Amino acid sequence: MISKNTIDKVFEQSRVEEVVGDFVQLKKSGSNFKGLSPFTNEKTPSFVVSPVKQIWKDFSSGKGGNAIAFLMEHEHFTYPEAIKFLARKYNIEIEETQINKKDKENASERESLYIVSKFANDFFKKKLNNSEEGKAIGLSYYKERGFSLETINQFDLGYSPKEINCFSKIAIGNGYSKDFLEKTGLSIFKNDKSVDRFRGRIIFPIHSMSGRVLGFGARILNNKLKTAKYLNSPESLIYNKSKVLYGIYFAKQEIAKLDNCFIVEGYTDVIQLHQKGIKNVVSSSGTALTNDQIILIRRLTINITMLYDSDRAGVDATLRGVDMILSAGMNVSVCTFPNGHDPDSFSQERSNEEIKDFLSKNSKDFIQFKASILSENAKDDPILKAKTINEIVNSISTIPDRIKQEIYVKHCSKIMDVSEDVLFNSLAQQNKNEVAYISKRNISEIKKTPKNIKVNVLFELEKKIIEILLLYGTKKEKFEELILKKDENSELVMEPIVVESLVYEKIFLDLQEDEIEFTNESFKILYNAIINELQKKGKLVIDVFLNSLESDLSNHVTSILMNEDRYQLHDWLSKNIFVKGKNKVISQLVSETILSLRTHLINEKVKELQEETQKKSDDNSQILEEITDYYKLKSLLSNKLNRVL
Ligand code: CTP
Ligand code: MN
Repeated sequence: MISKNTIDKVFEQSRVEEVVGDFVQLKKSGSNFKGLSPFTNEKTPSFVVSPVKQIWKDFSSGKGGNAIAFLMEHEHFTYPEAIKFLARKYNIEIEETQINKKDKENASERESLYIVSKFANDFFKKKLNNSEEGKAIGLSYYKERGFSLETINQFDLGYSPKEINCFSKIAIGNGYSKDFLEKTGLSIFKNDKSVDRFRGRIIFPIHSMSGRVLGFGARILNNKLKTAKYLNSPESLIYNKSKVLYGIYFAKQEIAKLDNCFIVEGYTDVIQLHQKGIKNVVSSSGTALTNDQIILIRRLTINITMLYDSDRAGVDATLRGVDMILSAGMNVSVCTFPNGHDPDSFSQERSNEEIKDFLSKNSKDFIQFKASILSENAKDDPILKAKTINEIVNSISTIPDRIKQEIYVKHCSKIMDVSEDVLFNSLAQQNKNEVAYISKRNISEIKKTPKNIKVNVLFELEKKIIEILLLYGTKKEKFEELILKKDENSELVMEPIVVESLVYEKIFLDLQEDEIEFTNESFKILYNAIINELQKKGKLVIDVFLNSLESDLSNHVTSILMNEDRYQLHDWLSKNIFVKGKNKVISQLVSETILSLRTHLINEKVKELQEETQKKSDDNSQILEEITDYYKLKSLLSNKLNRVL
């Protein structure tokens, strides 16, 4: 774990405009910076960075947050990855709070393996581009396969010379320890003699999501040699083949932007498609797709299209992959290539448009795919047809979302020409998977309040309270309170007095008095978080506060903060609300909002009670009494409201 101390330093030293500025061209605009959204293809800039508030907001995608949030959105870093990235950028030493000695050793060993791998990668690149052998053998091979110099550079491709220990010799000469050379698999030591594992091969470095070299794939140049076509790095502390996807570093932006990820089988498929301008593509590098790989993609999109060879092995791999993707709550399509072609060979002679056209015309959803595999022969064979249907239902049953299941059942019923009832019955049998798996995305979907609710008064009022707390929570204001008093005739009357109070305290106490709870889940969480923070610290350090929230909530907060102008009171004036002079504006806003919320809740309550009286015909007296009480309260409130306005 990264120490709190390091995290604090990172927060203190990083400047959001500098961090964002590394990825987005920013221009000064008033006290802010503006640029084109890196998340959409917009033409007019709506991406704003506020150096004062240390936050950014992308009005075209709705995203926003602090520097860390930007790196998590843009680079798809995890939280610790983002912290580490910033620590490197600002030269902050990363302290790790170690649970035990073993973890500490592992962390430093991991770091050493990264460093050796980087050194090796630089060596292989240099050999490819600068040595006679590399140019004659390596570069010409790449050229033959149609890879441009630009592509070779971008993917960090290299060449490992034929000489038995060309690399190991130099690495050892440069002080790299045998231990790490062996653990990364770059060198093999026999009786103190070193051998380069990848000698005489072209090199495909495998990058992590954040761009570090984890391992290598190395291809032989001459297909006729009787050794394996590809050699790969062995598993190590940094390279775990079931957890990496070749090409993810180069594809992540485009995958997120296009909201779809192509999965191919090989290194060269990724590179060739990329060179042809299709960049949202990764490869499982010959191994069967794993759950860890799927989850890696889910950080970027929930839509996957598998591009596989149409041979038997390809089909089997695809079928397994389909069910795994579905059960991760994601959507999957399949595109098979003409016999004898893989995406690389298919794309070589074709233009970007032709390839895209082929992909879009030949991508089938998994039902069509399963149906098409079997249906060739299944049409006239009832047994085969039943088997196909069962296979499809089997896939549908792995989908965690019931609504999606239903949609697919309908779809399958059409394609396979069976009744929906039969399919639902069969699904019910297979639906053992009772505990619906809720993906992170689903949770945030639930939290979002639907946009199409016409005018939800409660929603608006709760939102307004959150806005007030964020913008004016710590302001001291004068509020008019009505208190009960006995007048000269000993009658109870309401008398207005003016009290000074912090805005957040006023809101908190008023809502507590009435036991008002927020109904919107997100607002409820936000409200509690804000009040909690203010009570503990007396202020909101926005950066730190944002950071403590889940991304969709912090997004929401950023919108409010960035939109401050909009909430300022000229807007309020335009709603024909009489403002009694500037210094009273905030207190007026607060009082009005709370009173409106109370009035609204009373109205709801009255409505509820009235409905009850309609249901019961006999004794309504008690309910009617209650209604009368509420009416009194309502008129009291509206008096108060009138006083405020
Ligand atoms: N692979 C491997 N080891 C092998 C063969 C294949 O690791 N001995 C992996 C590689 O990642 C390879 C992928 O499986 O990219 C797909 O294999 P294949 O289709 O045989 O190779 P291609 O990627 O098509 O490579 P090329 O076009 O260079 O033959
Ligand atoms: Mn190939």
